[in-house]
Amino acid sequence: ETGQYEHFMLKEIDEQPTVIRNIIGKYQDDQGQLNIGQELEGLTVPKRIYIVACGTSYHAGLVGKKLLENIARIPTEVHIASEYLYAKDPLIEKDSLFIFFSQSGETADSRGVLNQIKQQGYRTLTITNVQGSTLYREADYKLLTHAGPEIAVASTKAYTAQIAVVALFSIYLSEQQGLEGTIDMFQELRTISIAMESLKDMKEQAKQIVDDYLTGHQTTFFIGRQSDFDVCLEGALKLKEISYIQAEGYAGGELKHGPIALIEDGTPVFVVITDDNVAKNTRSNAQEVKARGANTCVISAKGSEEEGDAWVLPKVNPLLTPLVSVIPLQLISYYAALQRGCDVDKPRNLAKSVTVE
Ligand code: F6R
Repeated sequence: ETGQYEHFMLKEIDEQPTVIRNIIGKYQDDQGQLNIGQELEGLTVPKRIYIVACGTSYHAGLVGKKLLENIARIPTEVHIASEYLYAKDPLIEKDSLFIFFSQSGETADSRGVLNQIKQQGYRTLTITNVQGSTLYREADYKLLTHAGPEIAVASTKAYTAQIAVVALFSIYLSEQQGLEGTIDMFQELRTISIAMESLKDMKEQAKQIVDDYLTGHQTTFFIGRQSDFDVCLEGALKLKEISYIQAEGYAGGELKHGPIALIEDGTPVFVVITDDNVAKNTRSNAQEVKARGANTCVISAKGSEEEGDAWVLPKVNPLLTPLVSVIPLQLISYYAALQRGCDVDKPRNLAKSVTVE
């Protein structure tokens, strides 16, 4: 039931702070310590990690890579399942762990890779929202995202839940190795749930941005660097799948190597700037497109904001900014779809879980 909401998608966007709190509740013990060991009993620290997923879950995997490498210091590759499935004789480090990210746990391409990899004797872990799903049952280890049923075809809370769970898994792997100076992830996640909560009241702003930037346009870009780039890929996917506006997520520095040719007078360009390390660089990329006529909509975070930014988000741990910055992008997609009279929860040509290769 959508309750007070017109669509499942908006309901699920708004559920995200609760989902983060649920995840904290499930994976923290009474002493405030990480309580994830039971699920991972017998799992030794791998030398290398391969994340395999599709669509939005793949985008969560991109963020997961940064968490695993930064916190657990384990080299991590991220692969699109349908590509990895047909990779010819891929070079795989012997002591590796394959992690499958999947909301439904039924995605055929990911299942295909899981089967192959198991036959080759590698260890597997599934991070999924559906207990008892195929990827859940067939993996050696499993972690649930506890996001509750996701009904809208466009995935929202599954993305943030997967990132929160892989963040905790990174802490686990760091603790297993006795690494020093890891962050208080539960505290960071609590801060994030508060930040997410505050965004529930920002719907008018999202609607206004849609009116101001997207009305009458059929081509858009989302640009950013590092984690901001990861979130741009997700923002672009969300916008195209439910509003049918062509959207490209691009690395800020890559624009001038080709796609800048597409910028015309009024072309909407969303610019995500939450990472202080690259804020200046992304600002200058925004300038480059603006000089060619783009209508730039900057979404920044406290501390790196500038006058004229369309949306300034609360500041959170730099490794976790996608958990917050994805929300304005989800809301913009939602209101763009509404403005265009699209079927928000059931976009054309799409199914909730893709069970064919
Ligand atoms: C996008 C979307 C899809 C799924 C993809 C993977 O909003 O819903 O891109 O993310 O089909 O699905 P799961 O996560 O169920 O494996």
